Amino acid sequence: MTRAPAAWAGLCLLAVAWSLTHADASRSSGKGSKWWGVIHLADDTSKAEDPTLSNDLRSNRMRGAYPGYPLDPISSLRKKQRRLARENQGVIGAVARGTRAAVTECQHQFRNRRWNCPTQERMRGRRLFGRIVNIACRETAFLYAMTSASVTHHVSRACAEGSVRSCSCGYSGRQPSGPDWQWGGCSDNIQFGYRFSRRFVDASERGRDMRYMMNIHNNEAGRRAVSGQMQRQCKCHGMSGSCTVKTCWMRLPTLREVGDNLKAEFDGATHVRVPNTIQNSRRSRRRRRRYNFQLQPLKPHHKPPTRNDLVYYEDSPDFCTKNQRLGFGGTVGRLCNDTSSGVDGCELMCCGRGYHTQVKEVLEHCECTFKWCCDVKCKVCRTRKVEHRCL
Ligand SMILES: *[C@@H]1O[C@H](CO)[C@@H](O)[C@H](O)[C@H]1NC(C)=O
Repeated sequence: MTRAPAAWAGLCLLAVAWSLTHADASRSSGKGSKWWGVIHLADDTSKAEDPTLSNDLRSNRMRGAYPGYPLDPISSLRKKQRRLARENQGVIGAVARGTRAAVTECQHQFRNRRWNCPTQERMRGRRLFGRIVNIACRETAFLYAMTSASVTHHVSRACAEGSVRSCSCGYSGRQPSGPDWQWGGCSDNIQFGYRFSRRFVDASERGRDMRYMMNIHNNEAGRRAVSGQMQRQCKCHGMSGSCTVKTCWMRLPTLREVGDNLKAEFDGATHVRVPNTIQNSRRSRRRRRRYNFQLQPLKPHHKPPTRNDLVYYEDSPDFCTKNQRLGFGGTVGRLCNDTSSGVDGCELMCCGRGYHTQVKEVLEHCECTFKWCCDVKCKVCRTRKVEHRCL
């Protein structure tokens, strides 16, 4: 008679174990990306973001301001993130602009790939790029790094432009001036931008599972793609630009440079190993330990990832066919290059399905001449354009 209960207990244990692993899988899905919802804050956020407004007042206003969206952008923020927005007035506008710029940059970087960084029609928070972020793949790694980088970038710049009340021009990190130049002008405040992004972006991450470490790692790689590329920029003064006095300041790389860098990191991203057990003690959640872990490559003979590398641990979908749930449209109808053997080539882009070719006549301005002064005269020419599109 004791066997039956034991069997039941065993079954229950199994069920509990199953639900635990599955709950875990869904919990870690796309987590940490909810703040992307701030993308819906309008450019002019001065009214909307007034953090002194009470919560319901604000959400009413938000609903008024964004009738098309079911979600108040501020509601996609965690408590800590709202507090940061309150304490740094003006910053949330920079975060929203940064998120928008990250989308644009991602779509530029991936324009010739099967996955071209599509956003959802009704983009909301973590659904901004669809459920692709539920998969711990390269593309997800890029999205986290790019958004984190872009927030770092926009906040650092916003400080220098004076649009965040709690920060201004950057000063630290200055080496002594050179023999023929001095520090002057207003540097982009990368120190503030970097620290803010760490606190704000990483505030979304909870727990200490593998996905947590992947996200934290990639967020950090994104910030480093910005902070590692600060450039000194100088201006000459003196009689008719004689450059007797030169002043210099530190300037952010362009977001395009950051995007180029992160795309290169995407191409060389490290597939990391998921350890059998992940240290999950409460102690390790303490902040000073937050960034203190080393991920290991899946292939033992590969180098462990540095802090600048992007990391992932799941394979990407092939992106060939439409997947509404994951949020991409497949490659049917996409333009491809019939002479390229790369990812933009018809063979790879069309996943071997083939393509059709269309010759188009387009009218273009041509043979333009410059007429003194100041006019440009052009002819209109017919040119043939050959287009290949995937079947
Ligand atoms: C197609 O690919 C070839 C080879 O990579 C390249 O030289 C050419 O510029 C590409 N054409 C277009 C239209 O991108």
